[in-house]
Amino acid sequence: MKGGNKVIVEPHRHDGVFIAKGKEDALCTKNMVPGEAVYNEKRISVQNEDGTKVEYRVWNPFRSKLAAAVLGGVDNIWMKPGSRVLYLGAASGTTVSHVSDLVGPTGVVYAVEFSHRSGRDLVNMAKKRTNVIPIIEDARHPAKYRMLVSMVDVIFSDVAQPDQVYFAFFLSPGPVYNFSELSRSLRNNIRPAEREKVEADFKQEIGNLISEIDRFIPNLKALDYYDAL
Ligand SMILES: C[S@@+](CC[C@H](N)C(=O)[O-])C[C@H]1O[C@@H](n2cnc3c(N)ncnc32)[C@H](O)[C@@H]1O
Repeated sequence: MKGGNKVIVEPHRHDGVFIAKGKEDALCTKNMVPGEAVYNEKRISVQNEDGTKVEYRVWNPFRSKLAAAVLGGVDNIWMKPGSRVLYLGAASGTTVSHVSDLVGPTGVVYAVEFSHRSGRDLVNMAKKRTNVIPIIEDARHPAKYRMLVSMVDVIFSDVAQPDQVYFAFFLSPGPVYNFSELSRSLRNNIRPAEREKVEADFKQEIGNLISEIDRFIPNLKALDYYDAL
């Protein structure tokens, strides 16, 4: 996809995200590694007035929940250029690569993935993206990888497991790190009053998420266009 004069790329409301305005609008991020696609996504090259070129990569919401959330109109993605992100469930790095574009050279993405197969692609992708630190570990055992991770601004969790909200919830500020212990004790011998509190907090988090999703569902119609890409 060549930009030339036909495509105008404008900043999105979320810093670090862009919209390519052509025949159809497309969400995109500024490519940290111009000339390279990560998962065969479309690239858009735009020429500035001074003759320099900038390349963007189309961010397909069918391939990335974060892109779907942005397109759907989520209020805050809690990351911007310069952010330090702990990303749990990186897979082969599809979304991580866009987060890498988004946070740019002054930011960093610690990308945790436990599958060695996906991890291989992730590591290869990170060779060219100096702001991605791939970590092939089980996200539930932060003791094994926390020495590689400095303080972060945001934890993004997409491990697609039932207890994933606990992951992010209990990794966030505070001394509680061993959430695998937490899951086990939840199942077995946590005090009933304590269990009730944890479950009530969890229910509230899920409730908030569901109302947020309900609020932006009308916008998801915009996804149709990406089917054609
Ligand atoms: C839905 S996929 C992630 C897709 C990715 N976030 C993206 O948008 O490109 C979920 C990933 O989480 C990984 N995963 C599941 N449990 C994990 C765990 N405990 N620690 C690390 N990775 C885990 C899986 O191997 C899988 O690659």
